Amino acid sequence: MTIKEIFDRMDYGPAPEGNAEAKAWLAKHGQTFGQFIDGAFTKPGQTFATKNPANGTDLAQVSQGTTADIDAAVAAARRAQAKWARLPGHARAKYLYALARLIQKHARLLAVLETMDNGKPIRESRDIDVPLVARHFYYHAGLAQLMDSELPGNTPHGVCGAVIPWNFPLLMLAWKVAPALAAGNTIVLKPAEYTPLTALLFAEITREAGLPKGVLNIVTGDGDTGAALVAHPGVDKIAFTGSTSVGKAIRRATAGTGKALTLELGGKSPYIVFDDADIDSAIEGLVDAIWFNQGQVCCAGSRLLVQEGIAPRFHEKLKRRMDGLRLGDPLDKCIDVGAVVDPIQLATITEMVRNSDGDIYHANTPIPTQGCYYPPTLITGLGTASRLMQEEIFGPVLVSMTFRTPTEAVDLANNTRYGLAASVWTENVNLALDIAPKIKAGVVWVNATNLFDAAAGFGGVRESGFGREGGWEGLMAYLKPARTTKPLKHVAATPEPASFEAPTLDRTAKLFIGGKQARPDGGYSRAVFSPKGKHLGHVGIGNRKDIRNAVEAAHAAKGWGKATGHNRAQILYYIAENLSARAAEFATRLKDLTGKDGTAEVEATIARLFTYAAWSDKFDGQAKSVPLRGIALAMNEPVGVIAALCPDEAPLLGLISTMAPAIAMGNTCVLVPSDPFPLAATDLYQVLETSDLPAGVVNIVTGSHAELAKPLAGHMDIDALWSFSSTDLSALIEGESATNLKRTWVNHARTRDWAGTEGEGREFLRHATAIKTVWVPYGE
Ligand code: NAI
Repeated sequence: MTIKEIFDRMDYGPAPEGNAEAKAWLAKHGQTFGQFIDGAFTKPGQTFATKNPANGTDLAQVSQGTTADIDAAVAAARRAQAKWARLPGHARAKYLYALARLIQKHARLLAVLETMDNGKPIRESRDIDVPLVARHFYYHAGLAQLMDSELPGNTPHGVCGAVIPWNFPLLMLAWKVAPALAAGNTIVLKPAEYTPLTALLFAEITREAGLPKGVLNIVTGDGDTGAALVAHPGVDKIAFTGSTSVGKAIRRATAGTGKALTLELGGKSPYIVFDDADIDSAIEGLVDAIWFNQGQVCCAGSRLLVQEGIAPRFHEKLKRRMDGLRLGDPLDKCIDVGAVVDPIQLATITEMVRNSDGDIYHANTPIPTQGCYYPPTLITGLGTASRLMQEEIFGPVLVSMTFRTPTEAVDLANNTRYGLAASVWTENVNLALDIAPKIKAGVVWVNATNLFDAAAGFGGVRESGFGREGGWEGLMAYLKPARTTKPLKHVAATPEPASFEAPTLDRTAKLFIGGKQARPDGGYSRAVFSPKGKHLGHVGIGNRKDIRNAVEAAHAAKGWGKATGHNRAQILYYIAENLSARAAEFATRLKDLTGKDGTAEVEATIARLFTYAAWSDKFDGQAKSVPLRGIALAMNEPVGVIAALCPDEAPLLGLISTMAPAIAMGNTCVLVPSDPFPLAATDLYQVLETSDLPAGVVNIVTGSHAELAKPLAGHMDIDALWSFSSTDLSALIEGESATNLKRTWVNHARTRDWAGTEGEGREFLRHATAIKTVWVPYGE
């Protein structure tokens, strides 16, 4: 063969990574594992095999976790928690630092074991997964160190339950364990049934690090074990990564229990290529977007959107590149694409592609005949509603579609129930930075893809879940405000007295929808009385249809999200000013409704409007310090349409305390005012009308909290629902919210001091925003 021929073919021989050390570790455990509970391995129970998907061989037997195992693990975590949380941040930092060092020390063993159990190429586990794991522990050692001084007033949840998937077994473990431990929680983690081995090795490493027993517990098993952990009453917070369907089941299972929840779910992330993009870079990026980890990546750039003019050339180049991908033994360092995790996953991918009505191109590259291999695949010619355009395939399969204009690109990108990530490729920085905020996703990469770092928040919106992992924002998901609460007593409306003087003039307060006062759809109203039985007026009883109209109006007013913070501040100040002009009248109304002097509540309401006018242009994002030539911007974006059942006990202050942070951050809202004392809100219509607030930004539907909670919680176009009602609707709201996985913030029938510091501030602002991480690499 001539040198020219060698260069033309670029063939290279195999370069297998040795797996003797991994085999020795498995042999040391007799290829059989129990659970890791309270610092020690238990005797194996009923076991199942974990296999190497590259060749189908059994690697080890692991135990199927029972409810007794979960009980024991949660009890061990509970015993360890108080002491762990009491340690100074510095002491926890030292343990996390030791774990980071030990991960580096055992990096090769971890990478090889991961590749054997999962099928991912060793290049990825060695160069991406394991270094990111170490980085995560280093970063969180830092957060533990700084927490005491930087985050006063917060406290850990207690015992965390983590359920993780099989696509990044060790990395997902790190994403859960590092922040949980840094924040002072203890943890019970259930790895995925296909890939439990690195979690078990990690358990052993924690012993080497001297981690106190019970702080970390690993229980292996299948979905039933996961469900038992989720359902366990001794768990205070659940963190889940996996499929949207299981995420929804977990949302329902935890509803009303008071367990905190973060969900990192599926995606169908768009990969948008404009005609001025650097095409060769975009093609290389695409290889990383969809063929990294065989496409089994929640944020995989699985939906290519390419501008029409360059589409034929782009697809041609892409096919040639696909043909050059090498599939084979994942332990071979020259391999680009390894094995799919399991024959079941392979069958799912095969079935989905077989039933597709598009034009299918399989890479023209040798495919091993043994093991779970699927060829890199491109599918074109699909309609926007086609199953493969909408559903996560979770395999090495790219679907592609064209667009003409930037607006169309954004529309297509957002035409999905998911919202995890997106890539935007263009040499025009103005275009890229215009598109990034318009895409509904938690992460946007400009001229890049699949960049991750411990300092940068990762997570989704819509049905991709809620909560962020990484950064200060990720740590916050493992903390809660340290405040004492009491059970919230139900506040009932004054019943109709036996006799009362009917007003001479009909004073039925209407609803406030789209900037107009509207009669309730059902035409019903109820009389409102003072505690002494004086008839104060009528209030409309809103129903499902009124909610629908209010949500439509709130959506139509979305331009509010683009108004500047300065602009929103001006309007909040204006509302305060107009309320101030009528302070005496509002104070009298409050006195009439509640029997208590209302002067202080009106004053506090005006002050609260000032608070959020102040915050409008000050709840800044951050430029993250990521190890990259470039920046990762953490932008606080509005959540969208926020609905709220407002507090009953502070009819005016409570309503403004929910409305003001929502609109200050650029959301529009649908508010259901205090159930017993609604007239304080209906008097506000005129104040809002005269304060230059655009129509539809605030919509107010009076009515029964108990009746309106369900249509609000189940509404597909509401992005978040808060309940501070004195009727306990928390379980219903959290359960029903699983329909579209809207974010919920409910009181679990506990008090909040609306007049005090806990009635305002960052906690509200965090609930009113979603962090979008926008990665912008620099340089030519
Ligand atoms: P899955 O969501 O069923 O499994 C993830 C984890 O949840 C595993 O540890 C599993 O044991 C556990 N689990 C299953 N049912 C549970 C329940 N009812 N309660 C608590 N825990 C439960 O994902 P699966 O079945 O492995 O994969 C199916 C599809 O899910 C994939 O084809 C892919 O589309 C998607 N997926 C998405 C992931 C992501 O990162 N977004 C990760 C894994 C899967």
